[in-house]
Amino acid sequence: LDNGVGRTPAMGWNSWNSFRCDINEQRIREVADALVRTGLAAAGYKHVVLDDCWMEKRADDGTIVPFASKFPSGMRALGEYIHARGLRFGLYSNAGRKTCEGYPGSWEHEAADARTYAAWGVDYVKYDFCDTAGLPGTPRAIYERMASALNATGRPIIFSLCNWGVGEPHLWGARLGHSWRMGRDVFAAWDEAHVKELKLPGYLQSVMSAVDGIVGRDDVAGATGPGGFNDPDMLVVGLDDGMFAYGIVAECPSHVRACKPGDYVSRERWGKVGGLSRTEQEAHFAMWAFLAAPLMLGNDPRALSAVARRVLLSPDLIAINQDELVAPARRSWTDATAGLEVWTRALSGGRVALLVLNRGEAHVRSVTTHFERDAGEAHVQWARELQLDEPCVNANADAGACATWAAAGECVRNGGYMAAQCARACSVCAPLA
Ligand code: GLA
Repeated sequence: LDNGVGRTPAMGWNSWNSFRCDINEQRIREVADALVRTGLAAAGYKHVVLDDCWMEKRADDGTIVPFASKFPSGMRALGEYIHARGLRFGLYSNAGRKTCEGYPGSWEHEAADARTYAAWGVDYVKYDFCDTAGLPGTPRAIYERMASALNATGRPIIFSLCNWGVGEPHLWGARLGHSWRMGRDVFAAWDEAHVKELKLPGYLQSVMSAVDGIVGRDDVAGATGPGGFNDPDMLVVGLDDGMFAYGIVAECPSHVRACKPGDYVSRERWGKVGGLSRTEQEAHFAMWAFLAAPLMLGNDPRALSAVARRVLLSPDLIAINQDELVAPARRSWTDATAGLEVWTRALSGGRVALLVLNRGEAHVRSVTTHFERDAGEAHVQWARELQLDEPCVNANADAGACATWAAAGECVRNGGYMAAQCARACSVCAPLA
């Protein structure tokens, strides 16, 4: 969507992954302060988005009313607090009757809610898709209602569609909003084997499953461009101790007592599980950067770990994510047996970014990549050998083909669970003369 904002992917923080429904104005203010203090805001993470559970009810005239107990100063005041720190204010709502947590959604209140958000100074709306069964119209038509309501306010607002790939949002999302979720909620689990092992409920998926749903499909990958991005979901970097799981279980996890298949297991009973190794977090962030995904932090910036700080502040990867061309990332080469992939993404100024990913079981020592392409008049060719277990700063020795290698890390085993994953991003590849 071209409404003057959000031409490159949104960056910011969203309350859901760390806090679920446990949000209040004090906590949100502390997070806003922490974004500034840690340098995350200066690096671009400017949107502070309240996810589900801020809204309590509708007033008699239909106006949406936040929980007074959690937000005693009101939403306009919270927006002012956020704006005063140079940040931007975001809110969640839902296209159906009730939000995923059962609070009032915006169905048949779109115009009034959009006006309320604009009056509160909202800059970003995340719009979910729960409780839409039986509503008239396609997912696209249902999203169109809020898209036109937001447009009618005259306030430039980033509109983030969250309908989990239902109704193929990559085909129409860019006409209505700035990003569209392509799949289920990403949990801090590397792949589907990990999801299975944890016996997670069906609405959750792994990092790699979200990635495969985008870069693994050319029609989906190609839908990304300026002002419109595939959204694999929020980041799970920094959730080192895992995330709270809950939901209806097909099979009971062994640590959850007094549970039968089909039970709803609450967040309190399930507790924290999952978590990514350091290298998995690096790979996760590098892939989100390449995909031109919105970079919405899911960790608690008030307690930023050294690992999360380094991963999330990687300047080369942020520059790739925010490159003005917003060209789709492609898998240019894969070795399915070894689990190796090379991704490419065109950048502005005739540059190309490369990402080398080891998603296999082996501790890979080197990968050789060969690239040939016609870039206007210049015939460009690269041949690089990457030592995946060595620091990759200035790994380039070849006539300036690649200037820097970002996201250095080691291929490590994660508590005996994961084999090695590495992702390296070559941020700047100038065409060879
Ligand atoms: C859905 C969305 C999540 C989150 C929750 C809130 O599951 O996909 O991102 O917003 O709802 O209830």
